[in-house]
Amino acid sequence: MEMKGKLGVYLSKIKNESGEYEVLQLLEKSLDTNNPEKGEIPIKLLGFGEISLVFEILSEKTKNLAFKRLPIFDSEEQVEKHIKGYSEYNRLLNDDLHIEVPPSDAAWVYADKKKKKISLYCIQDKISQPDSIGNKIIHKVGIEEIKKLILIILRETKKVWKFNKDNIDKGIQIGLDGQISNWALKEFDENDPHVQIDSKLVYIDTSTPMYRINGEDAMEGILFLKSAPSFMRWILKLFFLDEVLDRYYDWRLVTIDLIANFHKEQLAEMIPDLLNVVNEFFASEATEFNIKPITLKEIDKYYKNDKMIWVIFQNFRRFDRFLKTKIFRKKYDFYLPDKIKR
Ligand SMILES: Nc1ncnc2c1ncn2[C@@H]1O[C@H](COP(=O)(O)OP(=O)(O)OP(=O)(O)O)[C@@H](O)[C@H]1O
Ligand SMILES: [Mg+2]
Repeated sequence: MEMKGKLGVYLSKIKNESGEYEVLQLLEKSLDTNNPEKGEIPIKLLGFGEISLVFEILSEKTKNLAFKRLPIFDSEEQVEKHIKGYSEYNRLLNDDLHIEVPPSDAAWVYADKKKKKISLYCIQDKISQPDSIGNKIIHKVGIEEIKKLILIILRETKKVWKFNKDNIDKGIQIGLDGQISNWALKEFDENDPHVQIDSKLVYIDTSTPMYRINGEDAMEGILFLKSAPSFMRWILKLFFLDEVLDRYYDWRLVTIDLIANFHKEQLAEMIPDLLNVVNEFFASEATEFNIKPITLKEIDKYYKNDKMIWVIFQNFRRFDRFLKTKIFRKKYDFYLPDKIKR
């Protein structure tokens, strides 16, 4: 698979002499999602999402790589299709939109003996300074620099919606999850953290191929629901899936999400100032998009709603994990964070 000029280099670091991804196979076999760092293969967690676990494998060969594990595939065709989408999404962002993404690659292994489950590992250059990721930066610098950070993120996201506007007749549309934790600052000094208005950003959340050709998603939407308990999936699909997917194609909603996140980060007092930045930006640098100013009320409503859905969802997932591991003595595929303050 051709990805940003590192073809095969990353994969060679995890292959054994017979060309198998032995490290990943062992990882799958010994991974305890309750205690991911306690398995046979030494790993260090870098982060996690709803479906994914992001970590580095502590070995000489792999030390500068981040592995993102997605244990959600049922067949080779499905995972291969996802890898194609992933690589095309990375190419679109990096080459066509000029939104920089880390060089990346992908490898998959069977996750069980019966060969019914597949885990995909998206491999990326590791962001060398953890504090340079957005959700860390905002706790290290003051409001003036956070305002700058929001502005430069908005300028990056504009590239997506400009592309979408220009390509509406060609039938290709690109989506993006603009959350603060998906951006890293280049040329960042952890000992002297600053954001400059000409600072360059890297977008790291590239493992979900978010683009549509003639209305058809590159990503198989239903895969999004894999981390949900099976008893919830049909209802989520019926009522929420389309809405959640559409969210990433709507610039205004992506921006609301970006700002509402400051509630979760315990920095709600900054939201009014940040909204001023957003609304000024839309009124000066993005007039042709006719985006209605975002209000504080909308942000608060969105946050409350999002928080409620999330809490319900996490509780159902915990229940599902309990059933699987304690009652049925099966493996639970996902990492569930401890209750976090939101
Ligand atoms: N290349 C990387 N280097 C260092 N840390 C990373 C890297 N990629 C991801 N992380 C860490 O892992 C977190 C989650 O990664 P990412 O944003 O790609 O997943 P997500 O989309 O939020 O997860 P999901 O798709 O499961 O919801 C990031 O916010 C970051 O802290
Ligand atoms: Mg993310």
